Amino acid sequence: MDFNRNVKIAPSILSADFAAFGAECEAIEAQGADWVHVDVMDGHFVPNLTFGPAMVKAIRPHVKTVMDVHLMISPADPYLQAFAEAGADVLTVHVEAGPHLHRSLQAVRALGCKAGVALNPATPAEAIEYVLDDIDLICVMTVNPGFGGQSFIEAQVEKVRRLRTLVGDRPVHIEIDGGVTPETAPRVVAAGADVLVAGSAVFKGGSVGRPEVYGANMRAIRAAVEAG
Ligand code: DX5
Ligand code: ZN
Repeated sequence: MDFNRNVKIAPSILSADFAAFGAECEAIEAQGADWVHVDVMDGHFVPNLTFGPAMVKAIRPHVKTVMDVHLMISPADPYLQAFAEAGADVLTVHVEAGPHLHRSLQAVRALGCKAGVALNPATPAEAIEYVLDDIDLICVMTVNPGFGGQSFIEAQVEKVRRLRTLVGDRPVHIEIDGGVTPETAPRVVAAGADVLVAGSAVFKGGSVGRPEVYGANMRAIRAAVEAG
């Protein structure tokens, strides 16, 4: 994984057909997805359940780009190795998931994955001030984690701006997760984000039988970003 700040679109398979994850990953990549975002939920840290390491391992051969695994689980530490072995490229833990964030991030890197840290909407940017050299990605939740299709929380744009300043010239991605649309994407990119997770905005109207809709949806987001 080479580092660059070009804007990347990472469709969240939370909005895909759960009976066809392999084909869905191939479809979004063929249509221009830069990364594939995988939302792991435990029904405890967030009020929804999705899937575990066995499913992540099953779809790994269908992902040629970057498998970006977002752990909305608490505790996360007991499961890091399983998700690393399942093939995660980026493994993201939440600041709020446990008392020892630094330890979790060290464990992720020791397992050979890029280390991501996610912040819930109410968590201040400064919560990660002392782990900036231990991370490869910051995931700013622009909705409350748990479900796709929620509305973008505008106050997070200011948080992205602050994080961009805190990061400085470190090779750290700033990812936005939740409510990304052609309307919201330009604002977060202007504030300093470079990875846009989008679930409903990419998958709406399409299917594995009509993948060109995914392509059109992603082009609409990119065009909006380029138009500023
Ligand atoms: C929310 C997940 C997101 C979600 C985004 O808990 O982390 O990745 O799927 O979905 P949209 O783009 O529909 O807000
Ligand atoms: Zn996510």
